[in-house]
Amino acid sequence: MKFQLALLKALIAAAVFVHAVPISRDELVENSAKGLRLLQLSEDGLPVWKTEDEVLQLLRSGARFFDVTETYEIQQELDKTSAESKNAGEFSTAATFSPPSHQSQVTPLLSRLSISNMQSYLSSLSGFNNRYYRSQSGADASAWLLDTVQDITRGRSDITASAFTHGWPQSSTIVKIAGSSSSGPVTILGAHMDSINLSNPMNGRAPGSDDDGTGTVNLIETLRVLVSSGFRPSTPLEFHWYSGEEGGLLGSNAIATSYKRAGTQVKAFLQLDMTGYVKPGTPEVVAIMPDFIDQGLNNFLKQLVTTYSRLPVVVNVPCGYACSDHASWFRQGYPTALPFEGIFGEDDPFIHSSGDTTSVNGFSWSHSLEFAKIAVAFAYELTA
Ligand SMILES: *[C@@H]1O[C@H](CO)[C@@H](O)[C@H](O)[C@H]1NC(C)=O
Ligand SMILES: [Zn+2]
Repeated sequence: MKFQLALLKALIAAAVFVHAVPISRDELVENSAKGLRLLQLSEDGLPVWKTEDEVLQLLRSGARFFDVTETYEIQQELDKTSAESKNAGEFSTAATFSPPSHQSQVTPLLSRLSISNMQSYLSSLSGFNNRYYRSQSGADASAWLLDTVQDITRGRSDITASAFTHGWPQSSTIVKIAGSSSSGPVTILGAHMDSINLSNPMNGRAPGSDDDGTGTVNLIETLRVLVSSGFRPSTPLEFHWYSGEEGGLLGSNAIATSYKRAGTQVKAFLQLDMTGYVKPGTPEVVAIMPDFIDQGLNNFLKQLVTTYSRLPVVVNVPCGYACSDHASWFRQGYPTALPFEGIFGEDDPFIHSSGDTTSVNGFSWSHSLEFAKIAVAFAYELTA
């Protein structure tokens, strides 16, 4: 995750290959075969073709976008069949959620969350040279993740843990816990499991400990606590670990698009992306995102933090377009929220490099633990 710069506007204005008419199947096939990527740089703008080098330059400049190369046609179809399917702007929707009411069940679960488990998961995860979505070590990391969550969920016939494969080497991972009394709507918690070294994505070192190793291991540990406590949700509950967030929200966009196409109803989506850093000398907070979110879900999230965490809630500054995987769900009209490690400017400055490790001054497991608590509470309160 990285919030976008004003520079983006200039980049869009300078885009050359702008399309006034829908892109044909032939053009999609031809250009993808040449290695070009189709990027959506703003909600109103038209998608533009970029070479891999240009994509990298955009990432280095801090621009954020959806890589829609593999979802363009499905999205065109979705836009045709349902005029309001796509959430056009940053303006929030407002779903309704009842306040937290399961304190006596949730509170004991929170004390089962283990920092040393999270450390151990993160040590494996950050041990891969990088988790770039097109690299071999990125693919290996997704295989490790699948293995790990399969170990946790083994023996439960109401749970599936599977790879969601893509047209690139790294898979996303999806754990589905069936609802005992209903088949929908589904509650989803997400994090991205990929990482990037912006100077050398394919071969450079990118431990991605905070971005987004922390969110990734918060969710593994949340899953472990819920499963080991014997929790059986009444409505379906899912955990997603996305491939390719750093390359343009690729995994989450593919999955959110496929859920929309299947007509899947989503009650709520919570993204965890960077939960482990507190800038030395600044107050420790949970900073909730104000844009590309659902206001009703955000209010519920504030109540969760107040009820279950030791930290105060503050409203972050806007993150902007295509800022993290919640944007993929928001784009399909689903309610989203994102609690973040701190206010932008006080977040981890070492991300997207070989320096994103747990040994930086400011990294805090006790801070990250608060986000695992929020995740357990979110899952339990919305699906019990
Ligand atoms: C990318 O990886 C290389 C090789 O591991 C490393 O020397 C370099 O510092 C990394 N770049 C960044 C921005 O961290
Ligand atoms: Zn991230």
